[in-house]
Amino acid sequence: MSPPTQPESVFLRALSGETLATPPIWMMRQAGRYLPEYRALRAKAGSFLSLCYNPEMAAEVTLQPIRRFGFDAAILFSDILVVPQALGQKLWFVEGEGPRLEPVGDMARLGEIDGQADAHILAPIIETVRLVRASLPRETALIGFCGAPWTVATYMVAGRGTSDQGPAKALFTSNRVLFQMIIDRIVAASIDYLCAQIEAGVDAVQIFDSWAGSLGADDFERWCVEPTQRLVEGVRARHPRIPIIGFPRGAGRLIPHYVGATGVDVVGLETDIDRTFARDEIQSLVPVQGNLDPLVLRAGGPELEREVEAVRAAFGGGPFVFNLGHGILPDTPIAHVERLLAAVRR
Ligand code: CP3
Repeated sequence: MSPPTQPESVFLRALSGETLATPPIWMMRQAGRYLPEYRALRAKAGSFLSLCYNPEMAAEVTLQPIRRFGFDAAILFSDILVVPQALGQKLWFVEGEGPRLEPVGDMARLGEIDGQADAHILAPIIETVRLVRASLPRETALIGFCGAPWTVATYMVAGRGTSDQGPAKALFTSNRVLFQMIIDRIVAASIDYLCAQIEAGVDAVQIFDSWAGSLGADDFERWCVEPTQRLVEGVRARHPRIPIIGFPRGAGRLIPHYVGATGVDVVGLETDIDRTFARDEIQSLVPVQGNLDPLVLRAGGPELEREVEAVRAAFGGGPFVFNLGHGILPDTPIAHVERLLAAVRR
């Protein structure tokens, strides 16, 4: 089954199950602080969120790594936390620290959060998709995304990033009904948000579940698998052919079940996964994407060449998209990214 819009995209061919001699490549966080042209535009915008909500600037930032490196896919420049903001929760970023959200502590506060996302807030991001699609080369695919309900909920409940997702876990333990309501609102808003991105021209979507690995098997089922399954089903009901990439980071041995139960078409693999297991038990089910260690990319040298070969040796025999196991680190030298591309395309 070849995708209708971009038949010549090697990225979409790999997502649809084709094994390619040279795997397509893109990098999570490929538009970002390691690029001087990103830092310049970010300074001009004044803040990260002003950059996200300015369609011309966000489109430019999305295109920067494509122009410089010629990746096979661009990823929309935005953030997973714009969904809580569209649901009515205040969001800001503290320079050098990270995101802050007004915490959702109790029923009363949650009642103020709309069931539906405010389309006005997300409109500039959808406009960014249109601008990028119009100026991307036809052979370069455009990836849209959202956060998975569990990961987004961890930020909504804690009001910030946490190392152990403690506040969200405490809430689902003490008030399951309230936590379920938060999850349900994220699912509904994310279905609409992904569908709007698809209607504006993205060729595939990725669901980022950065904290999937922090849940035990039963909680993983309830707070990761079930909501993701509903999200996938909701998007498919309107756009049956869009390729959906799941990235349940840290889920390891639970990934084969996640793939079967959620219905994602492709799965992103974290750095730490056992590659033999991933090839035999995951790539046998769906195409995979990953999983070079961002620390190895930052370090460079012969270890980088060796690891690129190890990743290709593990996954190159089946449908595969080369990527990192998590986002590129801001202090990664550009020369190392160039070497990575040369090694993958050699
Ligand atoms: O991959 C891409 O280049 C697309 C854009 C993108 C960003 N964030 C841009 C960004 C995507 C897909 C994300 C996803 C995201 N955002 C996740 C899931 C993936 C992951 O990294 O685990 C999460 C948990 C967030 C929330 C978030 N956004 C945090 C915790 C932070 C602070 C940490 C940091 O790196 O600064 C951000 C900020 C952020 N999102 C930046 C970028 C380029 C840095 C902002 C800056 O310029 O200062």
